Amino acid sequence: MIKIAPSILASDFSKLGEEITKVEKAGADMIHIDVMDGHFVPNITIGPSVIECLRKVTKLPFDVHLMISNPERYIDNFADAGADIISVHVENNTHLHRVLNMIKHKGKKASVVLNPATPVNTLDSVINEVDMVLLMTVDPGFGGQQYIESMTEKIRKLRDMAVQRCLKLDIEVDGGIDLTNIYEVTQAGANVIVAGTSIFCAPDAAEMISSMRQKAYGGHI
Ligand code: DX5
Ligand code: ZN
Repeated sequence: MIKIAPSILASDFSKLGEEITKVEKAGADMIHIDVMDGHFVPNITIGPSVIECLRKVTKLPFDVHLMISNPERYIDNFADAGADIISVHVENNTHLHRVLNMIKHKGKKASVVLNPATPVNTLDSVINEVDMVLLMTVDPGFGGQQYIESMTEKIRKLRDMAVQRCLKLDIEVDGGIDLTNIYEVTQAGANVIVAGTSIFCAPDAAEMISSMRQKAYGGHI
């Protein structure tokens, strides 16, 4: 089951609520929310109070991608604000199991994220504990970057690892996904697709989401 998660990073921040309603009507399965602190990544976005406001606008799951230092300090805030899935990076987490347990204790789905240069084997001791793994297919921080080609092999490696362990793992990809490469990533084993620029900058978001979905399954448009 392929899920499409538009990333609001590429939306017009002056009307975030309307932008979310637009992609909900256009057929999005969840909303990807990028939280950046200007420390873990070289950009600053939004925090729990904005997410709490946006929670009133839609019932779609909020897929919250934390690109922040010391995420353990803020898990409760993001969970209470209305996050449904919380993703934390392995690169800045010396107590990864603790953070994942905090997320699960709040009744939320726990997910770990790997930057492009972080190998899949870093997941060895946590893969059994998570609902999803998010593979960055660009270096995090900004929308509109180009998909890193070598990530396709990495997706395949992770899917193999999950299959070998009989895990029904969601594999999400994030960065530079569009109509030209969506089938490549789903073929490799990804089933949750984040797309910012390609959806929010499309002239017709509904047409784009439906084309992406079709392509993701190998169809022609
Ligand atoms: C990058 C963010 C992405 C970003 C993707 O750090 O994690 O979610 O919004 O944007 P596109 O789809 O434009 O590459
Ligand atoms: Zn993201």
